[in-house]
Amino acid sequence: MNIIIKRSEREVSRAAADHTAAPIREKPDLVLGLATGATPLGTYRELIRMHGKGLDFSRIVTFNLDEYIGYGMDLSLPYSKDQSYARFMHEELFRHINIHRSNIHIPNGLADDPKEECRRYERRIRDAGGIDLQLLGIGRTGHWAFNEPGTPLDSRTHIQILSKKTLDDNFRLFFHRSGLGREMMPTRSITMGVGTILEARSLLMIATGKRKASITAAALEGEITSSLTASAVQLFKGPATVLLDRGAAFALQKR
Ligand code: F6R
Repeated sequence: MNIIIKRSEREVSRAAADHTAAPIREKPDLVLGLATGATPLGTYRELIRMHGKGLDFSRIVTFNLDEYIGYGMDLSLPYSKDQSYARFMHEELFRHINIHRSNIHIPNGLADDPKEECRRYERRIRDAGGIDLQLLGIGRTGHWAFNEPGTPLDSRTHIQILSKKTLDDNFRLFFHRSGLGREMMPTRSITMGVGTILEARSLLMIATGKRKASITAAALEGEITSSLTASAVQLFKGPATVLLDRGAAFALQKR
């Protein structure tokens, strides 16, 4: 695991975008795992800027980590009510780059049978040849994707009940902007499992801000445990890069 500490969030975003763009240039049909949330926003802005300068996304294939159950790209919903991660990705990245719609994969939170959707998602990842590079954040409960404390480290894509802390964080960051009430927050999601993530060929984990400092230190330097699913990064066999700003790196013992 290669831990890199940058001076600011901006520098983390730039480095994360460089780290993502390099394999895209080398392998134009790269299979890229993507994350939502506040952390990767700067990275996506940088990638959009690079696209303006010629970075080609026309052949890449993407798999997002997770989606809320009950939400998805449902164009029949009033726009403000569609708080899906599909919409988030569309707004923050996809509509600004030349990716093909058919190459975009996000768990379908509107599927009639969410369990079958989980199995289908695993199959799609396999059929695409697996994920070359998976981008990850870390939640304040230590979650990777939506793998909340207690999720086995060999879990596959599954239905996950979200913790109150995660709902509070995500409401502040996302639903809040929509004007919808906290009671509208979906409490369940479909998420890639920790085992699914560990099968990617390389990982890029990013964390910024002091509020992530203690959980980041526990994940990177503490016990490997299903109580803190991001600690599975220590189990990862391939190349894993962790990009932190000074705030998120604050509690690391080895800096
Ligand atoms: C998002 C995801 C989550 C976030 C985590 C941190 O797809 O899987 O694990 O990475 O909740 O969220 P932010 O970046 O908003 O602090």
